[in-house]
Amino acid sequence: MDPLQKKDLENIWHPCSQMKDYENFPPIIIDKGEGIYLYDIHGKHYIDAISSWWVNLFGHNNKRINNALKKQVDSLEHVIFSNFSHKPAIELSEKILEVSPKGLSKIFFGDNGSSAVEISLKLSFQYHKQIGFKNKTKFISLKDGYHGETIGALSVSKTPLYSEIYNEILIQTIEVNSPNCFRCPYLKTRETCNTECFLEMEKTIKENHQDITAVIIEPMVQCASGMKMYPKEYLIKLRELTKLYNINLIADEIAVGFGRTGKFFGVDHANITPDIMCVSKGLTGGYLPLSLVITTNEIYNAFYDDYEKLKSFLHSHSYSGNPLACSVAIETLNIFKEENTLDKLKHKSKYLKNSVENLFKDLDYVGEIRSMGMICAIELVKDKKSKEPFDFKDRIGYKIYKIALENSLILRPLGNVLYFMPPYIITNQQIDEMINIALFSYKKFFK
Ligand SMILES: Cc1ncc(COP(=O)(O)O)c(C=O)c1O
Repeated sequence: MDPLQKKDLENIWHPCSQMKDYENFPPIIIDKGEGIYLYDIHGKHYIDAISSWWVNLFGHNNKRINNALKKQVDSLEHVIFSNFSHKPAIELSEKILEVSPKGLSKIFFGDNGSSAVEISLKLSFQYHKQIGFKNKTKFISLKDGYHGETIGALSVSKTPLYSEIYNEILIQTIEVNSPNCFRCPYLKTRETCNTECFLEMEKTIKENHQDITAVIIEPMVQCASGMKMYPKEYLIKLRELTKLYNINLIADEIAVGFGRTGKFFGVDHANITPDIMCVSKGLTGGYLPLSLVITTNEIYNAFYDDYEKLKSFLHSHSYSGNPLACSVAIETLNIFKEENTLDKLKHKSKYLKNSVENLFKDLDYVGEIRSMGMICAIELVKDKKSKEPFDFKDRIGYKIYKIALENSLILRPLGNVLYFMPPYIITNQQIDEMINIALFSYKKFFK
């Protein structure tokens, strides 16, 4: 083990890891990044196929974003955001509203995805209380949904692997089965689907609406549970029904926002406006932690009164609205606009989808290939016909991940789902390089 790795393990507890695994598989120490590549301290390169936990959009060491950051750091690094403001936050707010769904008009700043989710849950609850709906205290969220790991966010996340052990201390929420298009319980295919699975949501809302303050969802793709993709009609129906019963719709765009699904936001596929929208990750192009909770005037106005009425939203984070993070977020939005990113992604995502399908479709353990925009996922199954999953304890994905790493590719599968979610600047040639290493790793494992 390298002395730096040894020192790392002496002091550091890494996220989302069993630290015992590091005995034989110490952390790779990254020294620098360039485009889609990361380089370790020995100069070995790795393709960042997962955009460093889905945050990087325009590559590592992006010159435009670097310059924006350098410029900002020379004038203002941080300032308290209560009673004070600054140009980067003001400019970012204007720019983000330009690309947000119509009707969203007020922005509250957080500093990471989970904090944005916490803010959205508190906002919805307090909003309903202040407009006289005191019974609206419950949240609905979808099975297999993931919204972060703080206690509130984990309460609405329905991925038992992360949340189950904390059940006794989580807030009670209502769980509804999510669309499960690969293993549709109504025996429909993506082509014959008529969103039959929405019936359960409809029934739950109709029976409990007096108590429900909000439904929180990941629009179009449930990312952390294995890139589970579902049709826009589900979102359209959900928007109609939540409106009818005075329930807030919270769109968690933290993973899918900023072009990842091919539209600027996931909700844009359905052309709907949520009451509250959470964004983070790609917001800063993968540079700095920042999140925004974007909401309507209607919600904002329910908090707007004389101080003594105690209606304020008394929520804050020390680094709220950090100017450095805002300045790189502005540059990220500038790149989108000036470089026609969404248009360019149309061709690139088609190339990614076709290339993965050509190479993987007929392999023995490939159950489904699903793709949307710059996300392409391969679900591995024990049996192609019955779709029987591999036991997660076999850690098939993890074993393929280790082979891929040896061969310069960072895959980091979700259980038995391999996926590609690369930075948008990846070239077609690099896409070939990425999926060929994945194919080699798959074949080496199953040989
Ligand atoms: C949909 C979604 N919501 C919330 C979060 C939490 O964000 P963070 O890790 O920044 O707290 C994530 C993180 O992966 C996510 O995918």
